[in-house]
Amino acid sequence: MLIFIFLLLMEIHSTAAVTHTLKHFYTTSSQVTNFPQFVAVGLVDDVQIDYYDSNTQRCEPKQNWMKDVVDPQYWEMKTGSCLCAQWTFKADMEIAKQCFNQTEGVHIFQRMYGCEWNDETEEVTGYEQYGYDGEDWIKWNVKVNRWIAAKQQAEITTNQWNNDRVELARKNNYLNQECPAWLKKFVDSGRSSLMRTDLPSVSFLQKSFSSPVSCHATGFYPNRAEMFWRKDGEEVHDGVVKGEILPNNDGTFQMSVDINLSSVAPEDWSKYECVFQLSGVKEEIHRLEKTRIRSNESNIMMIIPVAAVVAPIVVLCVLGGIVFIYYQKKNQTKTRSQETASLSVMTDDSQGSNPSDKPLLRRKANPNS
Ligand SMILES: *[C@@H]1O[C@H](CO)[C@@H](O)[C@H](O)[C@H]1NC(C)=O
Ligand SMILES: *[C@@H]1O[C@H](CO)[C@@H](O)[C@H](O)[C@H]1NC(C)=O
Ligand SMILES: *[C@@H]1O[C@H](CO)[C@@H](O)[C@H](O)[C@H]1NC(C)=O
Repeated sequence: MLIFIFLLLMEIHSTAAVTHTLKHFYTTSSQVTNFPQFVAVGLVDDVQIDYYDSNTQRCEPKQNWMKDVVDPQYWEMKTGSCLCAQWTFKADMEIAKQCFNQTEGVHIFQRMYGCEWNDETEEVTGYEQYGYDGEDWIKWNVKVNRWIAAKQQAEITTNQWNNDRVELARKNNYLNQECPAWLKKFVDSGRSSLMRTDLPSVSFLQKSFSSPVSCHATGFYPNRAEMFWRKDGEEVHDGVVKGEILPNNDGTFQMSVDINLSSVAPEDWSKYECVFQLSGVKEEIHRLEKTRIRSNESNIMMIIPVAAVVAPIVVLCVLGGIVFIYYQKKNQTKTRSQETASLSVMTDDSQGSNPSDKPLLRRKANPNS
């Protein structure tokens, strides 16, 4: 649920190649197990640059080029401001809880702020907004430099914040001046990494024989990409469901586009092609071939012939094992009884004289008695 809400707020939008973004996300939660109570992350052009959480209480760089762009004191300073945000942010969430008359349970409070910079027009936009339990809570309006309540319950807070002229002026300055300055610095330093293009590996997936065919691309960078199905040179819209672009753990992205081909004759499937295009790069065309479709059902078909060969071998091995163990046991008992026989004079006079053995033997011999 947490990741879902996070992605909802994150709204990865495909921007033009010339617009760069700096985004900061704060998340605080109550009663969510196995998740730090406070997490802060920063992203440049949707690439994570830093990380802080309430468990480690340290702000750390996430890209090598981030280490070159700032001096070591920067991370001390950032750690300090994150520690501070951790406490004020928790208090902000308590206020939101009170506004809804909630005392306990799982709650999520989020803040998203940052700026965009168009490197052609030099246009700059700052933004800041808060979310509570996955819904908009308070937004900063850049044009009038005021806080707007997205929920009626937030009005008490926005009234307070709008009366703080000093803080509003500071915010306006940060989001419209300082933030773009940092963004330009980061983009400059990370240029070779941020401006690279990674092409994806593309595969066709199908859950079962009757389900839609999914064209799945993973490992591409940047996240400005388009993917669609085409037939006879024209984009197909009927029965097509486009997925969102999602981040992978390694800084690359993935997406998929599904097509329902259940009413298309199998011999016509090869007329369909999946087209992937990374912004500014030549499109990649993948023709749909039945043999290229990966499915767990066709895997089962593969397992059967393999099982037919492997199973008898397994049975033989097991049988062989049992026979081997039987003979070993027999040999061992033989040698052991020979040994005991030779040693019994010295040590063993209890063999066969265990009192519990006798009734057992008798019962076996005379089951009707
Ligand atoms: C908050 O909840 C308490 C107890 O459930 C109730 O007595 C009170 O009227 C509620 N307040 C508001 C503002 O809803
Ligand atoms: C194949 O995998 C999907 C997703 O895990 C599952 O929903 C589907 O039931 C599976 N099909 C078979 C035949 O096991
Ligand atoms: C695919 O299309 C067929 C009809 O053409 C429809 O009956 C079926 O429900 C569709 N499947 C999905 C998963 O949308």
